[in-house]
Amino acid sequence: MANRSEQNFSRITVLSLAMVMLLIVTEPVFGLKHTVTIHTDRKIGLINPNIYGHFAEHLGHCIYQGIWVGPDSDIPNVRGIRTDIVEALKKIKPPVIRWPGGCFADSYHWRDGIGPREQRPKTVNVHWGRVVEDNSFGNDEFFDFCKQVGAAPMIAANVGNGTPEELRDWLEYLNFKGDSTLANMRTQNGNPKTFDLRYLCIGNENWGCGGSMSPSQYAKLYRIFSEYCHYPPPEGFYRIACGPSDDNYTWTREFFEELTGRATHGRNRMNRIEAFDMHYYTSAQSYGTATEYTTEQFYGLLTKCLRIEEIMLKHWEIMEEYDPGHSVKLGICEWGTWHQPTPGTNKRFLRQQNTVRDALVAALTLNVFNRNCDKVGIANIAQTVNVLQAMILTDGPKMILTPTYHVFEMYAPHQSAQALTCDVVTEDIKSGDESLPRLTASASVKDKTMSVTLVNTHATEDTIVELKFDDAERKSMNSWRLLAAKDIHAHNTFENPENVKPKIVKGTASLMKAFVLPPASVSLITYSVRK
Ligand code: AHR
Repeated sequence: MANRSEQNFSRITVLSLAMVMLLIVTEPVFGLKHTVTIHTDRKIGLINPNIYGHFAEHLGHCIYQGIWVGPDSDIPNVRGIRTDIVEALKKIKPPVIRWPGGCFADSYHWRDGIGPREQRPKTVNVHWGRVVEDNSFGNDEFFDFCKQVGAAPMIAANVGNGTPEELRDWLEYLNFKGDSTLANMRTQNGNPKTFDLRYLCIGNENWGCGGSMSPSQYAKLYRIFSEYCHYPPPEGFYRIACGPSDDNYTWTREFFEELTGRATHGRNRMNRIEAFDMHYYTSAQSYGTATEYTTEQFYGLLTKCLRIEEIMLKHWEIMEEYDPGHSVKLGICEWGTWHQPTPGTNKRFLRQQNTVRDALVAALTLNVFNRNCDKVGIANIAQTVNVLQAMILTDGPKMILTPTYHVFEMYAPHQSAQALTCDVVTEDIKSGDESLPRLTASASVKDKTMSVTLVNTHATEDTIVELKFDDAERKSMNSWRLLAAKDIHAHNTFENPENVKPKIVKGTASLMKAFVLPPASVSLITYSVRK
């Protein structure tokens, strides 16, 4: 006999067909509890593609084995970089990739990673398992990787144990066009053209692994380091200051107090910052393991994930006191799930499986970013391969795409689109002391295509939703892509790599207005529009 979730799943097809027959109407569908009204004339702003950014740190097997195998490897590669990873990443259109950390960044010295690889020093990765770092993947390899996948590079500079001079020199190596020793060194290393680095984090988590600083101490250093950012690329630097973890509002207030000069009566340095980087992990110590959790823990994790919005808005409100015109955007340069270490793996390597629950975390978060695209300028999920909420897992020459990867692929049409206001009417799911909305949505329009992404957070029940538009234009639906699984624990393995992947829902009609969203699912519904 089919279990409950299998029954639910097979009901979907039957119900979908029934809904198609019942609901090919242009009149409002009465009686549905869940509706999403899309306001085509209430644009929130342009969704900066950079909020779909990624993060690759020298941690566990993200860089080594995940991205870099070296030119002599049997694993197919281009100049040492894995071809399968590059091809997979290209499909999700990564706009920007952050490197070399994370915590690793504030102990990293860029000169260790240039020049002939056999001459590079061997250092110790003090943060992540004290493994020996042979620096074979350094500056030039990272820029090559970004070029191969078509992403803009983003560097996190060392403020913790680095110096302003070291950053100044790095920028000269990367961006200076003239005949200086450092620029010539870049040419000798095979890169006569400037790298034109634009995205620059000045430090990382400097309240913690990046130097255990107080907010004002860090802000004073930010003033100095940002002073030494010479050689801007043609579009100018996008400088990102270290912001708080989670709801540390004191960090935000004291950082801006110092930067604006209010704390010291010094000079206002708000003209040297483009984004302020808050980190938010959906860390899950009390929500089971990566693959084993109860329904209550499933809801608990999703509730924790959704808290990000309230926290972002509170930081934004504080930033407004110092920057009423909001010239500084929010960065969320590390986000994602952080589960308990996978048994049998090095605890400091942060490798974890990725289930449909993680896919929902990704989709819920990206819906939050889309509808706050006037505030969020850049964001990076942690991390790209083999670490935390990864897009891809590898095992020697094998690789699998995770459910989170598929969400990024489905959400790619939102990049550079105009976000539209969505009013969602739904109910709350109550679970223990927590409650979370049963349905979330975001919508955007670009090149005469409207993309609507919907998440049904209910673990066991369909959510039937009516999509409404506030204009008279008749919308013709193009397609409905669905990521759903028979079980809330479903994930991909090397033995069963396609267990969770999106499907096109067949049998839909172009004028369909109501959709039966299966339990724990993510949908992308697209429409052709005239304007
Ligand atoms: O992404 C893993 C680690 O989480 C990063 O190195 C650090 O910045 C954060 O604490």
